[in-house]
Amino acid sequence: MNFAPPPQPPALLPESAPFTPEQRAWLNGFFAGLISLEGSAVTPLSPAESAALMPGASAGPQDPAQDAVNDGDDGEAPWHDQTLPLAERMKLAEGRPLRRRLMAAMAQQDCGQCGYNCQDYSDAVARKTEERLNLCVPGGKETARMLKTLHAELGAQPAVVAGAAAPAIKAPPPQAGRSRDNPAVATFLSRTRLNKPGSAKETWHVELDLEGSGIDYVVGDSFGIYPANDPGLADAVLAALAAPADFPIGGRTLREVLIGGVSLGPAPDMLFQLYSYITGGARRHVARALASGENPDGDADTLDVLAAIEKFPGTRPDPEAFIEALDPLQPRLFSIASSPKIDPRRVALTIDAVRYPVGKRTRLGVASTFFADRITPGAKVRAYVQRAQHFALPADPSVPIIMIGPGTGIAPFRAFLYERMATKAPGRNWLFFGHQHSAHDFFYEDELAGMKAARVLTRLTLAWSRDSAEKIYVQDRMRDVGRDLWAWLADGAHVYVCGDAKRMAKDVEAALIEIVAAFGLRSTNDAITFVAELKKNGRYQQDVY
Ligand SMILES: Cc1cc2nc3c(=O)[nH]c(=O)nc-3n(C[C@H](O)[C@H](O)[C@H](O)COP(=O)(O)OP(=O)(O)OC[C@H]3O[C@@H](n4cnc5c(N)ncnc54)[C@H](O)[C@@H]3O)c2cc1C
Ligand SMILES: NC(=O)c1ccc[n+]([C@@H]2O[C@H](COP(=O)([O-])OP(=O)(O)OC[C@H]3O[C@@H](n4cnc5c(N)ncnc54)[C@H](OP(=O)(O)O)[C@@H]3O)[C@@H](O)[C@H]2O)c1
Repeated sequence: MNFAPPPQPPALLPESAPFTPEQRAWLNGFFAGLISLEGSAVTPLSPAESAALMPGASAGPQDPAQDAVNDGDDGEAPWHDQTLPLAERMKLAEGRPLRRRLMAAMAQQDCGQCGYNCQDYSDAVARKTEERLNLCVPGGKETARMLKTLHAELGAQPAVVAGAAAPAIKAPPPQAGRSRDNPAVATFLSRTRLNKPGSAKETWHVELDLEGSGIDYVVGDSFGIYPANDPGLADAVLAALAAPADFPIGGRTLREVLIGGVSLGPAPDMLFQLYSYITGGARRHVARALASGENPDGDADTLDVLAAIEKFPGTRPDPEAFIEALDPLQPRLFSIASSPKIDPRRVALTIDAVRYPVGKRTRLGVASTFFADRITPGAKVRAYVQRAQHFALPADPSVPIIMIGPGTGIAPFRAFLYERMATKAPGRNWLFFGHQHSAHDFFYEDELAGMKAARVLTRLTLAWSRDSAEKIYVQDRMRDVGRDLWAWLADGAHVYVCGDAKRMAKDVEAALIEIVAAFGLRSTNDAITFVAELKKNGRYQQDVY
């Protein structure tokens, strides 16, 4: 019997590219699959691009958005603003290539929780190198649903078609502790409450030991941890399911999976879908509506996994199908509050415990209450460092810095101050801190006083929002001292903002624009351009969540 030779992939590599015929054949096949040639205009790779993809070759700088997708998009992202609602972001992205619309569906915080920034996550989904569509934590179910809809446009073809005989080019596995996909093991040391008695807040200074973990970090990085759910909540879920705790699921018990494997937070669409299959009548309609993002009974926002089970009493899903319908338990990030220059084996975090009532039950933030309540000194925790992409001290230690960090936003600035102290950096340091009450919520008060006395902290400006009838926020204090702030900016100061993304970061930026206009003698438009330039030049950096 005669076999026709398999069709040869089109030649994408330039003839001058330094490959053997086998490598060339395989790489041509690889790229043909990667960029899905049908109907699209393809520019052959330059020798530099080709070389960058070969192991051992010197890799030049590459734009990840361009290497596999050549769609002529202008790269502008007007939707990249965390304060815009999803519908508005999608409108701004109308008519743009799919990968850009995928990006608009992300929450635009570049927070790193998914392991990427927004653009890289969307590009990875577009290239089909990332299949998980539920990684955008701040975007929640809204983003996951939009990604699912857009993902359907991607079609069914596999992203990468490697030639059968070709050796696979595999990236070396990342060092443990460097990414969410390969965590290392750290040891919990201690927690100390930062609020004094009488505070409405519950914020903890947490320390972990990195000895033997291989984890290292620099100030500005965030620390990722894999938490465990509250066992009490897992037991309540077991009871509501009327399922045995020791039901085996993939080598673990159902209870173990409920504690350490799946999210018991907002009930995912898949869970409602499951209920729509196993219920009937009006309940099925409700389950279907919930599965498609509707809110038939006005309670959709309050339905965590337990509440979802309780909404369909007497219906008993199979435990395995139930677990499959849940999202995996995701890691959480915390801004690092310590400097490795003081002790590279220790890392400190500043964690606000999330607790809020819904009906008769107090809902617990998984990771924050894991640290506040459940973990004991000596316990091991899976952890990694999420490298900051654009949040770092100036390379020149003499450059002045202005740090604006209300609440837990102080965390990276404690790290910056210790770093500048340890390195004897001559640059001036100005911290704006704010919280509810000066008497209860002045985090790290003694340390900051010590740093002031040691002249590491040049200036400390405080804003207490609930000490007086009128709320005073950090941006109000910034306005009060606008002339000095402008003088620091004119001296080349870098500005850093950390904390709440939704309101504070936007309000602080607006205040800065006002200050630049008033004291830099500019029109509002010119002040907006000035601040945009600061951002572009890395002189206005944010770590917001
Ligand atoms: C880069 C980065 C740095 C961060 N740094 C810090 C830090 O330094 N310190 C810090 O404390 N956190 C920080 N966070 C936030 C942190 O990652 C977690 O999101 C936070 O601790 C809550 O996680 P959790 O698991 O405790 O709560 P989850 O189980 O994730 O629950 C939180 C969810 O509960 C809901 N919720 C919370 N409060 C209420 C309420 N009152 N009413 C109704 N619903 C509510 C919201 O949907 C919220 O998203 C950072 C986040 C990022 C991305
Ligand atoms: N994902 C989560 O569940 C989670 C967990 C922890 C923290 N967070 C968020 O992370 C942020 C930090 O929380 P936190 O506990 O550190 O403190 P926070 O809630 O941000 O409060 C810190 C201070 O900022 C003030 N503030 C409120 N709105 C402001 C605004 N628009 N501009 C400037 N200041 C403002 C607060 O005042 P008032 O409160 O008096 O208005 C308070 O004095 C918050 O957004 C918080 O919701 C989220």
